[in-house]
Amino acid sequence: MINLDLKNAVDKAIAVAPDKRVLPLLFEDEAYFVKRKMSNGRNAFAKQDTGAAFWCEVCKIMTVNQYYPLAPEIVLLDENYFVMRSVGKTMQGVAKEAPWESCRLHAFRKVGESLARLHECGLHHGRPALRDIAYDKETDRVTFLDWENEKKFIDADPRVLDLFLFIHSCFRERFSRHHRELIDEAMKGYVASPVGRQIHREARALIKRLGTAFGLVHSLRRFGWTDVTSLDDAKAYLLGMETESV
Ligand SMILES: Nc1ncnc2c1ncn2[C@@H]1O[C@H](COP(=O)(O)OP(=O)(O)O)[C@@H](O)[C@H]1O
Ligand SMILES: [Mg+2]
Repeated sequence: MINLDLKNAVDKAIAVAPDKRVLPLLFEDEAYFVKRKMSNGRNAFAKQDTGAAFWCEVCKIMTVNQYYPLAPEIVLLDENYFVMRSVGKTMQGVAKEAPWESCRLHAFRKVGESLARLHECGLHHGRPALRDIAYDKETDRVTFLDWENEKKFIDADPRVLDLFLFIHSCFRERFSRHHRELIDEAMKGYVASPVGRQIHREARALIKRLGTAFGLVHSLRRFGWTDVTSLDDAKAYLLGMETESV
């Protein structure tokens, strides 16, 4: 049954911040996030239309949670927004902020394991960047956020693209001098799964298949563009990673 008090609280929060697409909300001492059916303004050219992206996200979240609770729990669904429970700190924060120092390596390993678990179900995220993955210290759980990305820019298993985009996002952040160690830890968690090892092998095969394009990326490194440099780093990392021994 719909919680009308929660709905009223959401409607008030939206009225106060009509231009915000994602709003944190505290209701009866519980933390929530509201995500509205609104364009995020980024990459508009590559995105689906706003309504399609919204329903795609709702549908993916519900599908994933039938297998494992790897997506946020939706507690209220409206035609124009959904409300989900807050699921902790994004991995960008976990990687950089002091309170997470003691559980940082553990959290990264857990992220790798969770991505593998998603892939074991035959599912994928679409763009598992560090800002869209959260860790909750209290419950020791990893949750993937922001399921609206469904861009198929390369003919490959979308799980291979997930793995690639995750590593790319780690290199893109260059969050700390330990960032290499954190990536290693995540990958240990990922390839502990036979499906993870298979996807890693497929990622390597894809890199080889696209050798010319990656060669071009490598030659563009000298310009120092972050996305290009991180792509080249992600490629080198995946090729150098020993699937069986990590
Ligand atoms: N359920 C949630 N729990 C914790 N943080 C969240 C949650 N939902 C969103 N956030 C925070 O809000 C940010 C934006 O939400 P997101 O779904 O990624 O939308 P956008 O498309 O604008 O990137 C996330 O990167 C995260 O920091
Ligand atoms: Mg996001």
